[in-house]
Amino acid sequence: MKEDLKKYLGGLRVYGVENDIPNVTNEVGSFLNMLIQVKRPKIILEIGCANGYSTIWMAEAAEKVGAKLYTIDHSAPTYAEAQKNIAEVGFSDFVEFSFGDAVEIITQMNEGLKFDFVFVDGQKASYLDFWKVIQDRLVPGAVIIFDDMMAFPEKTKEFHDFMQSEEGIEQLLIPIDGNDGILVVIKH
Ligand SMILES: C[S@@+](CC[C@H](N)C(=O)[O-])C[C@H]1O[C@@H](n2cnc3c(N)ncnc32)[C@H](O)[C@@H]1O
Repeated sequence: MKEDLKKYLGGLRVYGVENDIPNVTNEVGSFLNMLIQVKRPKIILEIGCANGYSTIWMAEAAEKVGAKLYTIDHSAPTYAEAQKNIAEVGFSDFVEFSFGDAVEIITQMNEGLKFDFVFVDGQKASYLDFWKVIQDRLVPGAVIIFDDMMAFPEKTKEFHDFMQSEEGIEQLLIPIDGNDGILVVIKH
């Protein structure tokens, strides 16, 4: 990653802390970036971009592998910031924004649109709804990452319990950053 983009991300992370924007940590952002470089997806989906911090981490890798990134959020002020920030770092050509509830937007997306990498960071209590709505849109071998699985065990419990008996997937809970915890899922 170029030094000026690293600096930009560093500044955005500080801005997030100062303004109570619940961005992913530097480690989670970096991990997403590396996973995309390894997986080399074609179409990426993000649920919950806030002001675009995680989006930029993913977009940097998406540009390297020639992927397109779709991102969704329903909070107006940070959504506008995300669009501005993505434009500032020059990624607007391959990042497509949708404003509104993720479940509704995904349901209304073109029938043929499928994802091979998904990052879920919307409302924790809706993780099960997000999981259900992306089912028909995952290509075999798709990688899906759920953030904050350890940070909010009560809010993610219904989803966590559901996943215990889910078939056709492999999953691993990674205690990244000590208390964030991301769930990595591969859909067969
Ligand atoms: C934890 S923040 C995302 C942080 C962002 N991924 C980052 O690391 O910079 C969660 C975001 O998800 C959005 N969100 C929550 N539930 C949503 C839903 N059902 N549809 C769309 N956006 C949602 C919120 O508005 C908020 O901006």
